[in-house]
Amino acid sequence: MANVLVVYCSMSGNTKSAAEAIAAGARSAGATVVLKTGTEAQPEDLLQCDAVALGSYDAFSYVGGGLKDFFDRSFYPTQGQVTGKPFAAFITHGGGGKAIQSVESLAQSFKLGRIAPTLSIKGKPAGQDLTELRELGAKLARAGRE
Ligand SMILES: Cc1cc2nc3c(=O)[nH]c(=O)nc-3n(C[C@H](O)[C@H](O)[C@H](O)COP(=O)(O)O)c2cc1C
Repeated sequence: MANVLVVYCSMSGNTKSAAEAIAAGARSAGATVVLKTGTEAQPEDLLQCDAVALGSYDAFSYVGGGLKDFFDRSFYPTQGQVTGKPFAAFITHGGGGKAIQSVESLAQSFKLGRIAPTLSIKGKPAGQDLTELRELGAKLARAGRE
């Protein structure tokens, strides 16, 4: 059974909804899920998980502060210990979506291994977005088992 960490930041709930859908998808594939905001999550959460989902809202075309805080606090404590760990990312935005680049770049700094294209969702996830988020969560759970 895989341990999946879902870490996200959200100001008005859209990315939180996306994170919950990813978590539900991972659980449906048999994973144990730790769901935390970027400010709650600790470097140990990243060390202990088998796979990680990273979620942010688009904040001035950049990653949101809560997730950036997690990356900043986790860099030295996890350096060299999470190389190749499977990750998937998701963002919500208001019509731009350029934050995708900073989220992927930060994950690359940790040498995490991307298992799927980053999901980019306008506003609150609904319908097909939720289906894709759940599928991504399940895929992450499977990647964490391998
Ligand atoms: C401080 C701030 C900056 C934002 N900057 C952008 C932006 O540059 N591009 C964009 O598409 N949306 C931008 N947005 C809109 C949010 O990314 C969008 O509404 C998102 O879905 C909010 O997610 P949340 O409900 O999880 O906070 C910004 C929102 C905030 C609060």
